[in-house]
Amino acid sequence: MHEDERLIGRGFKKDDLDEASLRPRIMDEYIGQEKVKENLQVFIRAAKQRDEALDHVLLYGPPGLGKTTLAGIIASELGANLRVTSGPAIERPGDLAAILTNLGDTDVLFIDEIHRLNRTVEEILYPAMEDYALDIIIGKGPSARSIRIDLPRFTLVGATTRAGLLTSPLRERFGIINRLELYTHDELKRIVKRSASILGIEIDPDAATEIARRSRGTPRIANRLLKRIRDFAQIHGDGHIDLKVTKYALKALDIDGLGLDSVDRNVLLTIIQKFDGGPVGLDTLAASTGEEPDTIEDVYEPFLLQLGFLQKTPRGRKATRLAYEHLGIQYMGGDDDSDQVFMMDGW
Ligand SMILES: Nc1ncnc2c1ncn2[C@@H]1O[C@H](COP(=O)(O)OP(=O)(O)OP(=O)(O)O)[C@@H](O)[C@H]1O
Ligand SMILES: [Mg+2]
Repeated sequence: MHEDERLIGRGFKKDDLDEASLRPRIMDEYIGQEKVKENLQVFIRAAKQRDEALDHVLLYGPPGLGKTTLAGIIASELGANLRVTSGPAIERPGDLAAILTNLGDTDVLFIDEIHRLNRTVEEILYPAMEDYALDIIIGKGPSARSIRIDLPRFTLVGATTRAGLLTSPLRERFGIINRLELYTHDELKRIVKRSASILGIEIDPDAATEIARRSRGTPRIANRLLKRIRDFAQIHGDGHIDLKVTKYALKALDIDGLGLDSVDRNVLLTIIQKFDGGPVGLDTLAASTGEEPDTIEDVYEPFLLQLGFLQKTPRGRKATRLAYEHLGIQYMGGDDDSDQVFMMDGW
């Protein structure tokens, strides 16, 4: 199954187009990520008091955790304009130069997927971030010279699912680096309730709890499940979401008690059945499951790691005892990396 077709895939889908209506606009509406929020609020207030631009902010973490949302909130709390673009959209240095020179004083420039900026574009960013300046080369060969253009003071907010892919010169130019974490069940329950009330959906508390439990720590998935379950509630009942229709819908959607779908189970089963529980390298695992290595790393792995179903070792991914138990397969491996010794009754 392609990532786009998966109900619980964390990536953006057409169905999320009305995401905008559910997107918190101010810090108080942004649920969870308490530490990140607290710190950002201090930095934002301090920058405003000094009448300076906020230092550059890097937000990283798995898809659907609220990076884009937070970028919007930062701009609105600063009372600044937000200009949105993305790494792949900026093809040439000139494109970025045009964006930068058109910013207003203390504006926020949001670059999504910043790890996908190409190198020549990235190099324009260094002096822009550090000195609010653009270095432009005029002419070619021996007569070429560089002139410096002043830029408005601005705040770059960069978002990425892959902080590890950022070059270190770029990463070092961010004064504020925040990692977004998977959300707790309690936070997701609050998000489900908030979204239900915005969408005018009636939902029982125990149904909201159930959706929260099966959303893989991800607000985008929680909202997506809420909408799909609303469809079942509407067709099979009066539109009111109770626990019964929630469980029925999740079963129909092939999402198990922990929020894993058939692809997650396939990843685990592949490790267990084809590779004897692992360790197996990422590329091999990707080839055997028909998924992209990036997708496995960004989308599936964070949650499987959090559940303790997967272990990353220097030699590859291993399925843990918990994964076997969840899938109802007898665990034969040892708990550590040493060679496994099988003890049988009577030995
Ligand atoms: N803290 C939050 N509180 C309430 N809702 C949230 C929160 N974070 C995210 N959401 C909801 O989840 C949706 C997805 O969030 P967002 O688009 O900001 O994620 P993202 O991290 O930018 O994802 P991607 O990596 O795919 O770009 C938002 O539309 C919003 O409705
Ligand atoms: Mg985003």
